[in-house]
Amino acid sequence: MLTKQTEVELSNEQIEEIISWRRYLHQHPELSFREYKTSAFLYETLLTFPNLEVTRPTETSVLAVLKGAHPGKTIGFRADMDALPIQEETNLPFASQNDGVMHACGHDGHTAILLGVAKALSSQQEKIHGEIRFLFQHAEEQLPGGAREMVAAGVTEGLDYVFGLHLSSLTPLGVLSITSGATTSNSDMFHITVKGKGGHSSQPENTIDPVVTSAQIITSLQTVVSRITSPKEELVVSVTTLKAGDAVNVIPEEVKIGASVRSFSQDVRKRAVEAIEQIVKGVSEANGCQYELDYTYGYDSVINEPEATALAFQAIRRKLGETAAVEGEAIMGGEDFSAFSNAVPGCFVFVGACSLDNETPAPHHHPKFLIDEAALADGANMFLAIAEDLVLK
Ligand code: NI
Repeated sequence: MLTKQTEVELSNEQIEEIISWRRYLHQHPELSFREYKTSAFLYETLLTFPNLEVTRPTETSVLAVLKGAHPGKTIGFRADMDALPIQEETNLPFASQNDGVMHACGHDGHTAILLGVAKALSSQQEKIHGEIRFLFQHAEEQLPGGAREMVAAGVTEGLDYVFGLHLSSLTPLGVLSITSGATTSNSDMFHITVKGKGGHSSQPENTIDPVVTSAQIITSLQTVVSRITSPKEELVVSVTTLKAGDAVNVIPEEVKIGASVRSFSQDVRKRAVEAIEQIVKGVSEANGCQYELDYTYGYDSVINEPEATALAFQAIRRKLGETAAVEGEAIMGGEDFSAFSNAVPGCFVFVGACSLDNETPAPHHHPKFLIDEAALADGANMFLAIAEDLVLK
């Protein structure tokens, strides 16, 4: 039997403080790998809380470790902190003061939530059985991502579980959505340069036409999804950029093609890469063209681990109500939380942040992106609930 559980209730002042931190961060957004002021603010603020060991695993990330008075499990809570190169159009009184940079994905909220959780738990050291690591991660928005740098710096060593969240501007307030298994996708891209021999459009016999070759490549790439993987497997291959010649009477020397590839399983991803290489090579050679294929592996899909997922469901339902946690669907978006959850069992939760009266919410990465700040308390309570279940006694 567990001993009687300790509950940590956020006071109104604590919730107000989280909101004020979020607004400060929203006003001062910074781009990926350049979160100097943001991380300095976090570092300085965390040092004012009791019982934390605060360090800088990388140049712009911050780690706060709360060692409990008793032995037990070690758990990690992660928040990302970077903003996007977008000009804000929300007209909020606390809109971005940095021209062309905006917190348009809600990472300001994630950071403020975790700061609030760190403060609330830092005074509970006597009741903590185990250790809590607060992982303030830089650079989620830009490859290769900050998460893998933090993992390389050792922040996941000895962790039993890791948890993270993402505010969602399209999910209703009060709904916390958890997907068992794959929850975000492998997010890759590739660029092809098809090289032929340019010449006059009236004398194709003296050229090697990279335009016709590229057309065949693009058409053949459609078979990667339709013929090479099973209809039951999930895969997207979208050719999205195409740059050929500049004049209608010139067959160009080369054509550039860009595409994105999304999948959930590592096996499907591997077969897709092999098929893409085979098609590009085969069609180019059949037409006498040379080619360069540059395939970029993006973030791995986030796979929610069954035990961590069950723990998150249970904790959220206990603290926020039976209907608060719902089974969600995987999204074809990328998220580098996977670097943490590949290292240790993890669960990533989407926290509804769309005001209930907002019928036309802006999506993430949009100049009018908004969150309902009531979601900040939900996010903080999610982390607190997990801490209560796993390390507070
Ligand atoms: Ni994001």
